[in-house]
Amino acid sequence: MRKNKTLGEFIIENQAEFQYSSGELSKLINAIRLAAKVVNHEVNKAGLVDITGSYGDINVQGEEQQKLDVLAHEKFIQTLSNREIVCGIASEEEESFISINSLDHRHQNKYVVLIDPLDGSSNIDVNVSVGTIFSIYRRVTPIGTPVTLEDFLQPGKNQVAAGYVVYGTSTMLVYSTGHGVNGFTLNPAIGTFYLSHPNMQYSEDGNIYSVNEGNYIHFPQGVKNYIKYCQQEEGDRPYTSRYIGSLVSDFHRNMIKGGIYLYPKSSKAPNGKLRLLYECNPMAFIAEQAGGSASDGFRRILDLQPTELHQRTPFFCGSKNMVSTLEEFMHKSPI
Ligand code: AHG
Ligand code: MN
Ligand code: MN
Repeated sequence: MRKNKTLGEFIIENQAEFQYSSGELSKLINAIRLAAKVVNHEVNKAGLVDITGSYGDINVQGEEQQKLDVLAHEKFIQTLSNREIVCGIASEEEESFISINSLDHRHQNKYVVLIDPLDGSSNIDVNVSVGTIFSIYRRVTPIGTPVTLEDFLQPGKNQVAAGYVVYGTSTMLVYSTGHGVNGFTLNPAIGTFYLSHPNMQYSEDGNIYSVNEGNYIHFPQGVKNYIKYCQQEEGDRPYTSRYIGSLVSDFHRNMIKGGIYLYPKSSKAPNGKLRLLYECNPMAFIAEQAGGSASDGFRRILDLQPTELHQRTPFFCGSKNMVSTLEEFMHKSPI
């Protein structure tokens, strides 16, 4: 593969691969690329200007919203709606979905986008990596009509594309349109993303486990047993423990190095914390595209039929063999 390929070039080349594509998905990825650069700029300024700290608002999940959550949300909504590139958007930061140009019947866009505009926001104040997660579906209701909830409540296996941006030591955009996973690193000096991680792959096994162990006593017995298994000395174990507290960053590291990410249900949070539509489905899509897997402990994440926009689910994601071992532990001790 030629070196120094930009994301722009990659998008154009890949569009040619889809013979019947109208170019709409490419335009959409382009718009996300632009929004990512804008949000990256805001995130980088976080330590310099007074935009850190809480906004005082409580988001629909009942959590305190950070200022950058709101800013990132607005930047993505603006970029996607101004360009009239999608027919609907749902965001973790807004209770209901947004219908774009619902009155304009000439508007033929067929994709809806779901986003977690800023993931790991509690890490902003301490200068630790955060991210953005996005998920794209083809609408199921007729083109030219206003979008409905049905367009957003699709199982994750229907995703046509998904990706994330990690605002880390360098900023990367990683995405998949169902033909593998590719990662692009931003050169901040010229504002261009370059293909730095072509065809990203999870190793089948790994030696990292990532979980908020502070919640240990509240976990189901199967998860407790699995964590003890990770810590046992046998074969390639004990595994090493790494947990940043930003799903995007934890996922990104585990995909590169091999590992499992766990956010189980607990006696405090009966469905776990992570949101199926904004966090788990897109990450599960990328994981599978990279040869990994994602489960709620018993079922494939991408098969779950959502019933609510802000639905939560337990989430176990990573190297294939690690996730299947976790599932075996869950089957033995499900409660
Ligand atoms: P968000 O900032 O979008 O609300 O997401 C935070 C999520 C996820 O990024 C992270 O993995 C998890 O919350 C961490 O939760 P704990 O602090 O409970 O470990
Ligand atoms: Mn999040
Ligand atoms: Mn968020």
